Amino acid sequence: MLLNLAALAILPGLAYAYANPEPCSGLCVISDPGLMRRVSDGKYFRFSTGGEITYATSDSLNGPWVGVGSVVPAGSKINLAGNTDLWAPDVHYIEQTYYVFYAVSTFGTQNSAIGLATSPTMELNTWTDHGSIGVSSHSGKLYNAIDPNLIKADGAFYMNFGSFYDDIYQVPMNAAGTKSAGSSAYNLAFNSTGSQAEEGAYMYQHGNYYYLFFSSGTCCGLDTDRPAPGEEYKIMVCRSTKATGGFVDKDGNDCQANGGTPVLESHDNVYAPGGQGVFDDPEYGPILYYHYLNTDIGYADGDKQFGWNVINWSGGWPSV
Ligand SMILES: *[C@@H]1O[C@H](CO)[C@@H](O)[C@H](O)[C@H]1NC(C)=O
Ligand SMILES: *[C@@H]1O[C@H](CO)[C@@H](O)[C@H](O)[C@H]1NC(C)=O
Repeated sequence: MLLNLAALAILPGLAYAYANPEPCSGLCVISDPGLMRRVSDGKYFRFSTGGEITYATSDSLNGPWVGVGSVVPAGSKINLAGNTDLWAPDVHYIEQTYYVFYAVSTFGTQNSAIGLATSPTMELNTWTDHGSIGVSSHSGKLYNAIDPNLIKADGAFYMNFGSFYDDIYQVPMNAAGTKSAGSSAYNLAFNSTGSQAEEGAYMYQHGNYYYLFFSSGTCCGLDTDRPAPGEEYKIMVCRSTKATGGFVDKDGNDCQANGGTPVLESHDNVYAPGGQGVFDDPEYGPILYYHYLNTDIGYADGDKQFGWNVINWSGGWPSV
């Protein structure tokens, strides 16, 4: 087939076609996925927003996903409104221990904190809640302490976080990656145009670069109030040779000054993809996983579906 490239170029978001999500079976209706594969037996565990971090397991990334229960069934120790409705799990395997960072907040407020639960196996009822990692926010702060994402760079741990206000921040962590090291947080990415937030940061090292993935645009309430096309949730990326700053997009624009290159936007029957992460799968290599609204099903927050695609790193930039 001959493609009319000139015609494609004038359609925003259609500079190239995006892959459709891989098929999903079983429990596929979730928000803000966090993925991990258990070292002992290769089983996948997928954590998501809501309840006390509900999670599911499967032998394959395509399912069937079967619900396990909650990470901290009694709610977080963090004494804040929202401590039984935990958000945005970020999952890591460090020193034979599975870590799940989570956020405590309520929609539209800046009264937020990041917490940590750990387990040796990820089995139900094996989790210990450690409460706050010392990253929190309240009205008047430049940032909002939600959407945690830990990265290890040159032997040191950093916590990326934030949403709305001045978007994405970072703070150095202690040697175990369990607590803030106590220094102040600094900005990594900010979009000053419009009223759209950048949030849900996920940093991933590939080759010589650290890639800062984030979600940008309107995440929620899209069943009742839909923004102009292109202003809904989408996944963007910036990169830097350092994990701690200097992020630019594909065109060299500073990501602290509105820069960002799209990785996945609405296409076909996929609408408002976001809440993403990257997982280095032993079979597929690095995959991008996310939630999206399937326009054949519905646009409500409770309709968000799990999706993933293998990342193509051609030219040093991720695409799906
Ligand atoms: C910044 O916000 C504008 C206006 O909402 C949006 O069109 C653009 O895609 C955003 N860019 C990034 C990098 O988030
Ligand atoms: C990876 O992306 C490049 C550039 O867009 C494209 O030419 C190539 O066909 C892609 N590879 C695969 C396996 O899709």
